[in-house]
Amino acid sequence: MVIALLGYMGSGKSHIARLLSQKLNFEFIDLDKQITLKNKRSVTEIFQMSGEIFFRKQERELLEEYLASKNDVVLSLGGGTPAYYNNMEVINQNSFSFFLRGSVNTLSQRLLKQKTTRPLIAKINDEDLPEFIAKHLFERNAFYSKAQFTVDIDGKTPEQIAEEIIRHLPF
Ligand code: S3P
Repeated sequence: MVIALLGYMGSGKSHIARLLSQKLNFEFIDLDKQITLKNKRSVTEIFQMSGEIFFRKQERELLEEYLASKNDVVLSLGGGTPAYYNNMEVINQNSFSFFLRGSVNTLSQRLLKQKTTRPLIAKINDEDLPEFIAKHLFERNAFYSKAQFTVDIDGKTPEQIAEEIIRHLPF
């Protein structure tokens, strides 16, 4: 079984995925991390040196590879993964998909502290960040909302979010 976590940057996908994998005794795979290992470069370096289109192709290739996994896996996707190619279809056909939904306020507060490792927002002024996120999220919501389940994250602990995901699973 593959459980795929998706949502905007800063929604806690990797953190929750790790916690969930420990609770379920599943393998934990972070898609961004796998892309950086394969390319021996950080996400920022890949964007700078090879461009976003190259990154999206790598992301798609590895996504297919991990969705085909025969093992029990919790897969943490990148914030943009659902928005490219027909990735959302492939995700829904091959996993239980969960959208971790956060408000613009929550995401802005978290991302103000974590901008530098994220090439899409690294150069945006702090005061412009909430507006950028609001617009970007509006575009991305069309893809995120195709997930089989949506879990609201505002005001909840990682533990509560992981337990909520487990309650949706068919066992
Ligand atoms: C991206 C999100 C990032 C990473 C890349 C692009 C996006 O992942 O894949 O910087 O398009 O939203 P996180 O959501 O894990 O930060």
